[in-house]
Amino acid sequence: MASDATTDISKRDFLYVATGAVGAVGTAAAVWPLIDQMNPDASTLALATVEVDISSVEVGGSLTVTWRGQPVFVRHRTPAEIEAAVNTPMEDLKDPEADSARVKEGRAEWLIMVGICTHLGCVPLGQNEGDERGPYGGWFCPCHGSVYDTSGRIRKGPAPANLVVPTYEFLTDTLVKIG
Ligand code: FES
Repeated sequence: MASDATTDISKRDFLYVATGAVGAVGTAAAVWPLIDQMNPDASTLALATVEVDISSVEVGGSLTVTWRGQPVFVRHRTPAEIEAAVNTPMEDLKDPEADSARVKEGRAEWLIMVGICTHLGCVPLGQNEGDERGPYGGWFCPCHGSVYDTSGRIRKGPAPANLVVPTYEFLTDTLVKIG
C-alpha cells in the first residue's frame, strides 16, 4: 500500500516536471526571436561566428548565409543602389538611420543584414534574381507587405524597424566574420 502511494506520487511528480520543462522550452523559443530583434547589439549575443567568403558575389548579386540559425543577407550593391540609399532624406524614413551607419566605412558596396522581417519574422524576398524587391529595389516581405530599401530600411508596410545589421568585420577584402 505504502509502496503504491509512493509510485503514484513519483508519477505525478514526473508529469509535473515534464510539463514544466516543455513550457519553459516553448516560452524560450517564442521569446528569443523578439529579443534578438530588439537587441541588435550583437556584442551580447556573439556566442558563435561564421566566416563568409564573399569573393564570388558580383556587383548586384547577393548571398545568403546562416548564422546562429538565422539567414544573413549579403548584398554587393551597385553604385545606383548605394546612391539611392545615401540620398534618401531622413524624413522619408520610418526608422531614420543613415546608410553610412549601416555599412562599414569605405565598404559601402557591401550591405550585410539579418534577413528577418522586423514585423513578424518572415524572410523577405530580394536575394534571388527575379525576386520581387518592391518599389525601392531592396527587399519585399510578402507576409504582410513590408518594403525595405537598398539599405534594408523599412519604407512601407507594417514592419516597425529596419533590417538588423549584425556585428561583423572584414578579415580581408573578401572574407567577412559575422558575429
Ligand atoms: S512578417 Fe514581414 S510584413 Fe509581416
